[in-house]
Amino acid sequence: VDQERIRNFSIIAHIDHGKSTLADRLIEYTGTLSRREMREQVLDTMELERERGITIKAQSVRMEYRADDGQTYILNLIDTPGHVDFTYEVSRALKACEGALLVVDASQGIEAQTLANVHMALEQNLEIIPIINKIDLPGADPERVRREIEETIGLDASYAILASAKEGIGTRDILEAIVTLIPPPSGDPAAPLKALIYDSFYDPYKGVVVHFRIFDGTLRVGDRIRMMGGGKEFQVDELYVFRPRLTPIDALGPGEVGALAAAIKDVRDVRVGDTITGADRPAAEPVPGFRPATPMVFTGLYPVDSADYDQLRDALAKLQLNDAALRYEPETSEALGFGFRCGFLGLLHMDVVQERLEREFGLNLIATAPGVVYRVVKTDGSVEMVENPARLPPPTTIDRIEEPVVRAQIVTPAEYVGPLMELCQDRRGTFLNMEYVGEKRVLLTYRLPLAEIMYDFFDQLKTRSRGYASLDYEFEGYVESRLVKMDILVNGEPVDALSVIVHRDKAERRGRALVQKLRELIPRQQFEVPIQAAIGSRIIARETVRALRKDVLAKCYGGDVTRKRKLLEKQKEGKKRLKQIGSVEIPQEAFMAVLRTD
Ligand code: GTP
Repeated sequence: VDQERIRNFSIIAHIDHGKSTLADRLIEYTGTLSRREMREQVLDTMELERERGITIKAQSVRMEYRADDGQTYILNLIDTPGHVDFTYEVSRALKACEGALLVVDASQGIEAQTLANVHMALEQNLEIIPIINKIDLPGADPERVRREIEETIGLDASYAILASAKEGIGTRDILEAIVTLIPPPSGDPAAPLKALIYDSFYDPYKGVVVHFRIFDGTLRVGDRIRMMGGGKEFQVDELYVFRPRLTPIDALGPGEVGALAAAIKDVRDVRVGDTITGADRPAAEPVPGFRPATPMVFTGLYPVDSADYDQLRDALAKLQLNDAALRYEPETSEALGFGFRCGFLGLLHMDVVQERLEREFGLNLIATAPGVVYRVVKTDGSVEMVENPARLPPPTTIDRIEEPVVRAQIVTPAEYVGPLMELCQDRRGTFLNMEYVGEKRVLLTYRLPLAEIMYDFFDQLKTRSRGYASLDYEFEGYVESRLVKMDILVNGEPVDALSVIVHRDKAERRGRALVQKLRELIPRQQFEVPIQAAIGSRIIARETVRALRKDVLAKCYGGDVTRKRKLLEKQKEGKKRLKQIGSVEIPQEAFMAVLRTD
């Protein structure tokens, strides 16, 4: 392929501004798929993605477009995931492009993720083409959005394309803009191979299929390759381009985007961000900026039925094949038995994994409340990263505890600034900045502890702004904080899986709310069950689950046998998500209660 006629680009947008719909229009217009093959939003393939209407895993597609200048161009669209959890994958995907289409909803304007994504695109020096989408909507105000783009992002929006992805307005203008404004890739076809891995997935027949973009050199079927970071070597069995299904090809050159299969059995040998080079003639330097994705949120996953442990382990291994960011390692809890401590990029990622484990593998799981990773500096100077509150070292050995903080950006109509600042303050936020976006909206920037964002922050944000505020955040670092471990005792026994790390000033409030919540959630037993919150040996809150007055079956005695059986079955049903801890049964909800006690 003539390098001059390749264009690599992404579409960046705030969630729901129409990225997938626009991709569909481009695929359709270029005839990449026939109308019969087109389904709505062809790039969102995972069932879960369709149900939730969000893009989780990035996909790519190669299109051929005959432009007004009479030439045919290869357009590689590199899709990016839309959620804040997957920021790392977005930045990788953008690295593989020379340009980006910036899609902004004409009725909504710039939102928090618009800003975050544009920021990443600018960092990569991408040519940005602004597109004002949904101009068909009655509430569309393209001129206002044009001003917002100019004032807030500082882009020249005079050439912004007005479009409706839904109705196919502006599609040809967008394709022409891609061809004329986005530069072709540079790179030397004769140089040693240098290709950036931006995604991978596991195929049971082909092994790991690696998605990459070539910066220098040429890759052919049969070549021996080496992963520069990982060090492993493989022989390329097959090369593909995305149409959007994998279509075999013999060779790919600089600027091209494709996939390869090389009988790679272990996904851990392929890391997003790593560089592929030739085994015989390696490049001197990798593509810069390699950094493995780090899980930010941890939770314990335990099978309700301990006999399912092996099945859970196998399921996690299978999921990890397609999800290199998922971490897990065996963990034992006194309360819950054998399970796994799992690490995720964020809460959505965690949700998706848990749902897939239950749906695709038929597992019945108990999940402990998600938490962040604390950095514990001990008195002897050593540092320990603590993923599980129950494993916090004894207080006497701790010099200080640091927690992860994020830089959060909130875009909101000006009238909700008050309540939102209150929310941030309440979540131990540090105010950093406030500026206007257009005339009526405000961009707030706060530093917030990650742990505080996990606790229904997003829901609160939406409630307090009547759904109008948007949020984006990125990990900033660790800061010292006055944190303590709070234990929960049920019937006098500490339940390790219920321990949480909380800020000292909030411990009493959280403790009281938590034991109250647990009292409601823990079913009554034949005896009285005290529930206590404690810091060290000091009890800070207490509630009691009163004893059952009568046997549940008592009212059936002498009566109808079927009713009695039904009652027993119903109890069994309810037991699915109960875990026997000591002499008390604790339901799944109890482990999550800590998330909803503010
Ligand atoms: P994520 O993949 O989750 O990031 O969302 P997205 O940005 O891809 O948005 P998507 O394409 O799924 O569109 C969101 C909603 O807006 C869908 O209901 C679309 O039908 C609708 N939509 C997209 N483009 C237009 C448009 O031009 N006009 C109108 N009226 N609706 C549109």
